[in-house]
Amino acid sequence: MNIIKAKDYQDMSRKAANIISAQIIMKPDCVLGLATGSTPVGIYRQLIDGYQKGDLDFSKVATVNLDEYRGLKHTDPQSYYYFMRENLFKHVNLREDATFVPDGTNEDAGEACAKHEETIHSLGGIDLQLLGLGNNGHIGFNEPGAAFEKETHCVDLTKSTIEANSRFFTSIDEVPTQAYTMGIRTIMQARKILVVVNGEGKAEIVARAFWGPVTPEVPASILQMHPDVTVVADEAALSKAPM
Ligand code: F6R
Repeated sequence: MNIIKAKDYQDMSRKAANIISAQIIMKPDCVLGLATGSTPVGIYRQLIDGYQKGDLDFSKVATVNLDEYRGLKHTDPQSYYYFMRENLFKHVNLREDATFVPDGTNEDAGEACAKHEETIHSLGGIDLQLLGLGNNGHIGFNEPGAAFEKETHCVDLTKSTIEANSRFFTSIDEVPTQAYTMGIRTIMQARKILVVVNGEGKAEIVARAFWGPVTPEVPASILQMHPDVTVVADEAALSKAPM
């Protein structure tokens, strides 16, 4: 694992965006795996900036997202599709038909998940997967205890994730209780993985995930077994790491 220490959120965002930019420049038709949540917002701003300056061209890039809430339409402001459109897609020259987010409106969970998995295979796999880290060590919506061998599937969200995500909703009762998510197996098949983490609140889980034992109780710990993982974390997030 390559651990890169950043000064703060801004520095983390810039360093991670540089890694993604290098991927796009080296392979203009690359497949990027993307994440939602608070952590990547600054990265997406940097990528938009790179596009506006003429340094980045997304016209041949395809994107696949990690996850989506079950039951939310693309037009729902809480959906991950909407988040991606507002924070990245609509600001750069990505083709709309080259952006793939699991279809939360498909009531048939098996079909929705199989389709997402098929999309990834038909694109030739993910070149670079961006990941945030959940407070409980989740990646995507793979919660503690999740089987390492799963592909895209439907999950019940844990109480702690519903509570953490309620900050984006007007009340906790509005937070969907299920989501479609790439599984750990899908994530581990990406050729490169980039994990971004910031803030003191994540310091303990960072230490457990990347320096502790590999265990399904800390889903992100499996990343220690991947041959090409880069973690970009700020000083606060690394404050409990033995480094
Ligand atoms: C988002 C996702 C989640 C988040 C994680 C961290 O698509 O799959 O695993 O990456 O919950 O979220 P933030 O960045 O909001 O702390």
